[in-house]
Amino acid sequence: MDQVSQVREKIDIVSLISEYIPLKKAGRNFKANCPFHGEKTPSFVVSPERQIWHCFGCGKGGDCFTFLMEYETLEFPEALRILAKRVGIEIQSTHFEAGLTTKKEKIYRLNRLALEFYHYLLTKHNVGKIALSYLIEKRKINEKIIDSFSLGFAPRIGNALVKFLIDKKKYNREDLNEAGLISFRQGGIFDFFAGRIMFPLFDHRDNVIGFSGRILEDPSVQISSKYINTRETLVYHKGDVFFGLNVAKDEIKKQERVIIMEGEFDVISSVQEGIKNTIAVKGTALTENQVQLISRFAQKVSLCFDQDKAGIDAVKRSLPVLEKKGLTVTVIQIPNGKDPDESIKENPVEFKNAMKNDIAIYDFLINESIKNFDKKSAEGKKKISDDVLPFISHIENEVVKEHYLKKLSTELDTSFESVVRQAEKIGKQTQKSTFRKEEKQKRDRREVLEEYLVALILQAKDVKDILGKTENELSEIEFKISAYKKIIDFLKTYFASHNIFDSKQFLRALPIELVPSFDECFLFPLSKFINEEKYELEINNIIKELIQIYLKDRIKAVSEKMKQIEKENKDSEELNALRIEFSNLVSIIK
Ligand code: UTP
Ligand code: MN
Repeated sequence: MDQVSQVREKIDIVSLISEYIPLKKAGRNFKANCPFHGEKTPSFVVSPERQIWHCFGCGKGGDCFTFLMEYETLEFPEALRILAKRVGIEIQSTHFEAGLTTKKEKIYRLNRLALEFYHYLLTKHNVGKIALSYLIEKRKINEKIIDSFSLGFAPRIGNALVKFLIDKKKYNREDLNEAGLISFRQGGIFDFFAGRIMFPLFDHRDNVIGFSGRILEDPSVQISSKYINTRETLVYHKGDVFFGLNVAKDEIKKQERVIIMEGEFDVISSVQEGIKNTIAVKGTALTENQVQLISRFAQKVSLCFDQDKAGIDAVKRSLPVLEKKGLTVTVIQIPNGKDPDESIKENPVEFKNAMKNDIAIYDFLINESIKNFDKKSAEGKKKISDDVLPFISHIENEVVKEHYLKKLSTELDTSFESVVRQAEKIGKQTQKSTFRKEEKQKRDRREVLEEYLVALILQAKDVKDILGKTENELSEIEFKISAYKKIIDFLKTYFASHNIFDSKQFLRALPIELVPSFDECFLFPLSKFINEEKYELEINNIIKELIQIYLKDRIKAVSEKMKQIEKENKDSEELNALRIEFSNLVSIIK
């Protein structure tokens, strides 16, 4: 056996996946909300027998390696190495070391060295003195926090890091360029960051993926931006990361809540004050990838953005992505000051109270809008409803939606009916795309039912018994998808010499091209049945419906063919045969 198969054999996929997402037992399989697309009812299934996973919502699936690769966005060699280590297998050959992985790892190493360099300059070197006192005295950050966030300082002399990494550590300029640590100017190379406080950015696996840097001077007298970030590299994608997640993730899991702020200093001040489940989105609206990432850690998200127009806009722009993922979203209203950093320094107790008194995001939107417009005038009412209805009309839960429609009608002193009608209009107008859910390719009812039927049979407690009881009815079905018919035939053959269904044994006899269809049915998420009787009843009903659908389709086809022949006006033998078939079909369809 090769090493890949050895690792796969030793890994238990259920315990692996349940370290990342909570799995619930469902018959032979385990179910969960899919971590790879937004959904609220579980269609992600893991099979302990088959040691595979499959999502019936987005169609992704595979084994332990593909799960880890998808979940952690790894290349195959990285996933192999992690899983091999887990089961104590040493990977010998390096023929998996594709260029990409080594490149990524080189960037992590370079970034780590840069972090250490900047951190040393800030905390130990003369050149970092001013920056250090800025942090400690002006921003009231203590040294412990400086260490835990590995803050640093990039000196103004334009090539300190370049010298360190090239002259001392013997990297070349291509490496530095790929990590985004240098820029080319006037024929020379310079450090990308200069004269800035450095905030390393980590992924949740503690790799250093990049940096953001804040200028030291008063930003109002500076020409360049207050903050700059590492440009896009192989490992840094701005819309995918949060500042502080590596520090906060355990606390987020523990509290089952994440607080999202705008900036680095907001998070650092919070953590220093003991509020440890905070991360920063870095001054923009949340992206789908970011929401996906945090939804792995907590189901409740509290937005704590600045109390200005930009902050409120960011709340509005973040809402559709959060709603789509089905997270509980609240807003923390910041007392005393424009951002959490200022507020905490002004009065930490009041800030902590505000954290406890967070309000549902829809209440926040309604309140904000009422503050901005005159709710007594017709014009004001129009503005308020235009402002908030695009959001309320897309609430998925009907009870919650009605709650806010009622609240709005009360606030505006209009009838509930007119608010509902306006919500319907607006709901249709507003860009569906921002709220749209991924749709599976359309299959017709016959195909859906066939898959469901084979799933019911394969997942039955006693497969042989079910097959025996339904043998006659099953043989009447004309399968549209021939793979299902073949699977049923193979099952019959299998039970001629076996009494108990063992998927491993069965799969040995099944032709390889039927395995994907088998797996889809074997993993298909079935709902719970009260008892065996109900289970069998369901199977019988599906069979009946399938036969009816087939008959109807056939009647339609036959009558069309008859019409065509009649039109051509030839009284053929074929027509006679069709007439007989037609009356036969009509008589059995009842
Ligand atoms: P703010 O302008 O509110 O800055 O931007 P701040 O957090 O109060 O910064 P300090 O306290 O003066 O240091 C919020 C966040 O937006 C990102 C940064 O992450 C910042 O913390 N930002 C801001 C940028 O990425 N680039 C910029 O030019 C400005
Ligand atoms: Mn600030």
